Amino acid sequence: MLKKRAALIASLAIIVAPMTAATDEITLKAIMQELRQNFLDVSDGFLLDDFDKVAEGALAIAEHPRIPPEQVRRVADELGAEMPVFKNFDVQVHELSLEMYKAAKERDRDAAVAAYQGMVTACFDCHSVYRERVAAILIETR
Ligand code: HEC
Repeated sequence: MLKKRAALIASLAIIVAPMTAATDEITLKAIMQELRQNFLDVSDGFLLDDFDKVAEGALAIAEHPRIPPEQVRRVADELGAEMPVFKNFDVQVHELSLEMYKAAKERDRDAAVAAYQGMVTACFDCHSVYRERVAAILIETR
């Protein structure tokens, strides 16, 4: 958890630090498409009582690739003071997917389901507030 927080702080620092490495092979959209598959796997795992499948999908969500710094910078430029709100949805998804992973490992269905529901809410909340706006910002970079 601490490591992830450090990684998050590091990724925020990139907003102000000039970036040299070109990372145009992965995009936020591609990350989202992977999250979709992980989300389907997790849901399928719950439906089939397959906790290994839940755990695997949950961990993949928790460890999703970082948004490329160039895209983070563009989004931050446009969202300004709202950037922490956007970031916080991602932190919520991260923390709840980790909780779901741990609960699935322990075969604690109630805790896993509760974390799943919270995570889905965070996915949908970010989409309802930011999806169109952020997609419009990023479309210019494609
Ligand atoms: C921090 C905000 C945020 C969170 C949290 C978030 N998303 Fe997204 N999502 C976006 C944005 C922004 C887009 C639009 C990307 C684009 O079109 O460039 C998007 C788009 C998508 C898409 C459509 C991709 C496409 O092909 O058009 C899927 C699927 C998706 N997200 C799944 C998920 C899932 C599953 C979760 C939770 C596990 C999640 N998202 C959490 C911001 C978020």
